[in-house]
Amino acid sequence: MKNLLQLLILVILTSCSISIYADNMSDKELIKGRKAMFKQNYSYAKKMSSEITKGNNQSVSDLALKMSRNYKSLISYFPDNTKTGYDTGALPSVWKEKELFNELMNKASNDASDFAKIAMNLMGDELKEYQKKMIWSQCKTCHDKFRMPH
Ligand code: HEC
Repeated sequence: MKNLLQLLILVILTSCSISIYADNMSDKELIKGRKAMFKQNYSYAKKMSSEITKGNNQSVSDLALKMSRNYKSLISYFPDNTKTGYDTGALPSVWKEKELFNELMNKASNDASDFAKIAMNLMGDELKEYQKKMIWSQCKTCHDKFRMPH
């Protein structure tokens, strides 16, 4: 009973601190922040490709973990007050189909962290194939539905 109460208090405190954090960021900071994170993930993905070619597997793995963490944070960068403005390239579908959007973001994050493990055990062309499937394919799948054509 005491444990249950502690758990309940922990859950309440955690959810309060998350919402305070999101409330503190302005729509401008959120939109600019998420654009910067997507750009960063793009540069991580490109760097990953060149590190695979060079055989720097530890670095490939580190980049994949950073990418995974960015995707996880990105989920909280799309509250209702950030649908328009500041040159956002996000489509209204992000908010109409929030569940699917978050699912794809979580999948992208989980696949990147799985890829980080695979990168420690495979090399060269074989690793490139996995990178295509687990890293690069996520971009188009999500953009087709949720990002404006550019
Ligand atoms: C789950 C969805 C999702 C995934 C996965 C995803 N993106 Fe995006 N991406 C978006 C959305 C939505 C935007 C528009 C954000 C905005 O402008 O507010 C975006 C924007 C971008 C931008 C433009 C940033 C800017 O400065 O305007 C780049 C570059 C980008 N993504 C690259 C990538 C790459 C590369 C990958 C894969 C490695 C990827 N994205 C994976 C949804 C996704």
